[in-house]
Amino acid sequence: MRSPILDYLDTLISETDHISSGEPADYIPELAAADPDKVAVALCTVNGTVYASGDADHQFSIQSMSKPFAYALAIEDQGLERVRDLIGVEPSGEAFNELSLDPETGKPRNPMINAGAIATHALIASEGQSRVERVLKFFGSLSGRTIEIDEAVASSELATGDRNLGLAYLLHSSGQLAGDPQESVTGYIRQCAASVTVSDLALMAATLANGGVQPRTGERLLCRESTRHLLSVMASCGMYDAAGDWLTGVGIPAKSGVAGGIIGVLPGQVGVAVFSPRLDGHGNSVRGVEMMQRLSEDLGLHLM
Ligand code: DON
Repeated sequence: MRSPILDYLDTLISETDHISSGEPADYIPELAAADPDKVAVALCTVNGTVYASGDADHQFSIQSMSKPFAYALAIEDQGLERVRDLIGVEPSGEAFNELSLDPETGKPRNPMINAGAIATHALIASEGQSRVERVLKFFGSLSGRTIEIDEAVASSELATGDRNLGLAYLLHSSGQLAGDPQESVTGYIRQCAASVTVSDLALMAATLANGGVQPRTGERLLCRESTRHLLSVMASCGMYDAAGDWLTGVGIPAKSGVAGGIIGVLPGQVGVAVFSPRLDGHGNSVRGVEMMQRLSEDLGLHLM
């Protein structure tokens, strides 16, 4: 028998079909070429059951949704204290690509903005492979399948990545970058170009909801403390300068990406992922935010 949850997700897609405001990101030329009408939603319970609707097999780049997972990996590799020494945990209240450095310490305000995410990438231990290979393997363990880089997206962003390079050199000059600026930005940009579906993302988010244990394989991928820390940072900083609206309206830790994806995590219960490429002025998917708001309301996901 068809699950009522699937019927609900189909309805969610059809009832948000009228939303056509916003534009796909264009500062990365390859993203501007995305089909703006693609749309998908997926849920994964902490038991590992995935429900998906819409263009659920469509692959798109993970972009900033890679940041919380890379942050968790850096904490596991370096310990929380070392990571906290280099990267703050305060919301910046600014856009994702701002140079939000604490004037006293020179630290990036948090790991969800680009400056903090570049510093995070440089902290991931390479363990005999490139950092990006390590991150991709980690995404593979989280999602239960092989995750690859969308090379067209990666080269497009590398060719236009001056701002991120600028951020990296500034971090380096204030002693907040553990690696070489050029290499850290290349690695970070390739990390952002990992190609995923909403079902992959829902499973990745459900691993966080499940305290770091992948619900299907039962493998512990992150310790409980790193997971708790990262979910707290996602709750306060994941939606950038829209974080307050998000927490009051949707009420769960979340992270968006400029390709149009958003993940949400309801601890102990469910991981959610939505996709639609048209973005608002904060760089968050317009239809994705609406779908998340409805999911929160209809399924009672709000933490409060
Ligand atoms: O560094 C960048 O600008 C992109 N690779 C990621 C930005 C992003 O996804 C912002 N999120 N909404």
